[in-house]
Amino acid sequence: MTVEFSPQAKREFKKTLARYPHKEAALLPVLHLAQREFGVLSDEVLEQVAELMDLPFSRVKGVVSFYTLYNTREVGRHVIRICHTLSCALNGGEEVIEHIKKRLHIEVGETTPDKKFTLLECECLGSCNTAPVMQISDRYYENLTLQQVDQILDSLE
Ligand code: FES
Repeated sequence: MTVEFSPQAKREFKKTLARYPHKEAALLPVLHLAQREFGVLSDEVLEQVAELMDLPFSRVKGVVSFYTLYNTREVGRHVIRICHTLSCALNGGEEVIEHIKKRLHIEVGETTPDKKFTLLECECLGSCNTAPVMQISDRYYENLTLQQVDQILDSLE
């Protein structure tokens, strides 16, 4: 099956390119656009992006494999990324991870059977002064307590 961007995504692609001095500089936002469009950045999607960007497939694949925010396999509707770098680890991040694992009955890297949540660990989210931090979709949740984690997950269920 061939993947193809929707007309709306193609318009957004053109607008994105117009904001950058050269095409390759727009690769990261174009990959985000592709992820919003297709959900998963499969090799087929990356081939489409490579073609649109006039880049080798290997270049696009290399960029995607470097950044953890790109999904190369199917994930749940809400992707929970919990920082496990030093500041967060020292300020309760590990307890947050254990709490969510128990609550959702999944391990890190897994998706709930109803496909609502995927739980991932990630490196520093750049908000160490508000540790522990987690990111769900595009939103940060900071200075987390276990009670707040429950409230956040309740609001998403
Ligand atoms: S260590 Fe967690 S945000 Fe930096």
